[in-house]
Amino acid sequence: MQKLFIETLGCAMNVRDTEHIIAELQKYKNYTTTDNIKEADLIIINTCSVREKPVQKLYAEIGQFNVDKKQGAKIGVCGCTASHLGAELIKKAPYIDFVLGARNVSKISKVIDTKGAVEIDIDNDDSEYDFAQYRNSIYRASVNISIGCDKSCTYCIVPNTRGDEISIPPEIIINEIKKSVDNGAVEVMLLGQNVNNYGKRFSSPEHKGYDFTKLLQEVSKIDGLHRIRFTSPHPLHMDDEFIQEFASNPKICKSIHIPLQSGSTKVLKDMKRGYTKEWFLDRVEKIKSLCPTVRISTDIIVGFPDESDEEFSDTIDVMRKVDFAQIFNFKYSKRPQTEAKEYTNQIDDKVASKRLDEVIALHKEQLAESSQTYLGQTMEVFFEDLSYDSQVSGFSDNYLRINVKTDEKYSSDDLLGTFRKVKIIKTHRTSLDGMIVD
Ligand code: 5AD
Ligand code: SF4
Repeated sequence: MQKLFIETLGCAMNVRDTEHIIAELQKYKNYTTTDNIKEADLIIINTCSVREKPVQKLYAEIGQFNVDKKQGAKIGVCGCTASHLGAELIKKAPYIDFVLGARNVSKISKVIDTKGAVEIDIDNDDSEYDFAQYRNSIYRASVNISIGCDKSCTYCIVPNTRGDEISIPPEIIINEIKKSVDNGAVEVMLLGQNVNNYGKRFSSPEHKGYDFTKLLQEVSKIDGLHRIRFTSPHPLHMDDEFIQEFASNPKICKSIHIPLQSGSTKVLKDMKRGYTKEWFLDRVEKIKSLCPTVRISTDIIVGFPDESDEEFSDTIDVMRKVDFAQIFNFKYSKRPQTEAKEYTNQIDDKVASKRLDEVIALHKEQLAESSQTYLGQTMEVFFEDLSYDSQVSGFSDNYLRINVKTDEKYSSDDLLGTFRKVKIIKTHRTSLDGMIVD
C-alpha cells in the first residue's frame, strides 16, 4: 500500500473534498493515509484562496514539503488556490507534480500519475459523479448538495475557483445519506455555497422545481437519521417557507449559520449581497420568534472598501441586536479577479484592525453573558469525541459543545455514540461542562 499525507485548509467544502480525494485514492490506487509526512509517497495540500495571507504562505509550505519528503514522493496542490493559480504554481515551484482545481476532484486518480498535470476546468461537472466513500467521522456525514456558486459578491474569489452553481440530484443525496446512516451516522451536514439556492440548476432537467425546503423534507424522512444541519444558507433566499420548515421540522437542528458580512445597507450594496440590514434583522427575528433556543453564527468582514465609521457601527448594531453565538470575523482582503479589488477607496489596514478588535471585544463580552444563561439547564447531547482529562464531548441540538467527565457509572464506551440528557454545571466561553441526568 502507498501512503498519502494530506493537509486541508479552508471551509467545510474543502474538508469534504479531502474525504473524496482519500476515498478515490483508497479505492482506485491502493493508498492509505498517514500523519507522518516523511513516510508519505504522495503529499497533497488542499488549499483555500479566500484570503491573501494563506496563499502567500503556500509556497513556503510546499517548499518545506519538498525538504521533508522522502525520495521519489510526489507533491500535489488541490483546491481553490489550485483553481486560481493553475500552471503558475508549477512554474514557481517546479517540484510540484500536479495541480487539481476545486471543481475537478473526480480526476484525482488520473492526475497523480501524470507529471505536470494541471486540471482546473471551471466548467467540469462532478454533480453526478459517484465518488468512493470515506468519512472522517462515523457519526456525522458531510454530504454535498451543490457545487459552485452563482453569486457575484464583489469581494469573493470563490465563483472563479468553484465555478457556476449546479445542484446534485436529490436521489444521489438521499442515497448517500442512507448509506452513511447504514454505516452508523446519526447526523448529516448538507453542504453547498448557498444551500437554500438548491434546485436553481441541475445537470439533468427532470428535477426542475425541486427546492431546498423540499430536500429538507425528504432528507428528514430517512429512518435512523436524527439530526440535520446545513451550511451555508444565504440570507437573501431565506423565504418564509424555509424558515417554517426550519422551525417545525424536529430533525433540523436549531443552529444556523447566516453570513451577515456587513450590517450596513450601503456596504451590503457595494458587496452586491442582495439584502439590506433590515431584511437580515427581519429574518433573524422571524427565526428567533419561532425557535427560541436557536443559536445563530455568522461571518463578518470589516474594512470593506469605502466602509465609513458610521457604516461599521451598523455592523456593531446588528451584533448587539442578534447576539451571535459564533462569529467568523475577517479583515477585508483584496483578491484577484474580484470587482472590489478595483474599488478606489481601500481602507487603511490600521483602521480595519481597530474595527476587527472592536468586533472581537464585543463578541467576547456577549459570549461571557450568554453562556451564563445555560447554567442549570438540561439538554440532549450526542457524544461523539473523546476529549482530554477523561472527558467525552458532544453537541447539543443547537450546537453547544458540552463535556462530561467519565466515571464508574458512565465510561466513555457507554457514552460515545449515544444521546444523553445532560445538566449544565459549569460554563466556559466556548464550551460547557455537564453531568448526565438519565
Ligand atoms: N476578504 C475577507 N473575507 C472574505 N471572505 C470571503 N472573501 C473575503 C475577502 N476577500 C469571507 C466571507 C465568507 C467567508 C467564507 O470568508 O465572510 O463568508
Ligand atoms: Fe472554501 Fe472558499 Fe476557501 Fe474555496 S476559497 S476553500 S470555497 S472558503
